[in-house]
Amino acid sequence: MLHADANDYRNHYLLPRMLAMLGEVADKAVLDLGCGEGGYARELARRGARVTGVDGSARLIEVARQRARAEGVDVRFVHANANALPEAASDRFDVVVAPMSLMDVEDYRGSIREVQRVLRRGGELVMSITHPCFSAPLSEWIRDADGSLRVFAVDRYFERIAWPQKITAAFHSQVLRRHRPLEDYMAAPLECGLRLGEFHEPSVTDEELRLSHRFRKLTRIPYFLFMRWVKE
Ligand SMILES: C[S@@+](CC[C@H](N)C(=O)[O-])C[C@H]1O[C@@H](n2cnc3c(N)ncnc32)[C@H](O)[C@@H]1O
Repeated sequence: MLHADANDYRNHYLLPRMLAMLGEVADKAVLDLGCGEGGYARELARRGARVTGVDGSARLIEVARQRARAEGVDVRFVHANANALPEAASDRFDVVVAPMSLMDVEDYRGSIREVQRVLRRGGELVMSITHPCFSAPLSEWIRDADGSLRVFAVDRYFERIAWPQKITAAFHSQVLRRHRPLEDYMAAPLECGLRLGEFHEPSVTDEELRLSHRFRKLTRIPYFLFMRWVKE
């Protein structure tokens, strides 16, 4: 069992929104960048896409291969860094989907350069990340005495920084968290000549609120940012 399997944000909030943004994918060549255990890749393959999943973790690529095999889904999984996709030909993909991965890469600019290279003309990068305005190393909810959320405080916003942290208390080991300001996330694709097609800071619907009490925080600040970039 992996974090992704039981994570309410991932399964009931992020994944459905990303699938809605991607729309019809049948017969499209899709690269799932930072695919992890491959859940998005498998779902896109079930919807008729020709999917390649890439991840920097050899262990997760192995899990992704096993899960695709077990579910009888055809996805090609490759162990590679997002900033060096030597197995991917230029101008090959209709869509690069990067769900909750590009905030974790150590080389965002290099990764976006590779995305731009492997996309065909007219192709799109559709990405979700933790919202950089609220991901700085010193950012947290300040609570009232009764435990209710008073205000979300942010500091050290301009630091480009990585630090080890447990994602939840249930994690045995720490992962590397990263923060970079919003302008970095915009500058790299703009420098590569990609055009911003969509920019979403989603809140939460009543229906989603019924699925997890944790989503209530999403009525206060956007935890996530979704963007669509187009190679013209
Ligand atoms: C938060 S997980 C998201 C996984 C999956 N996209 C999902 O939403 O379930 C981030 C993923 O990005 C991968 N990753 C981080 N840095 C990477 C890099 N430089 N190149 C390729 N993958 C990377 C991690 O191994 C991890 O699987």
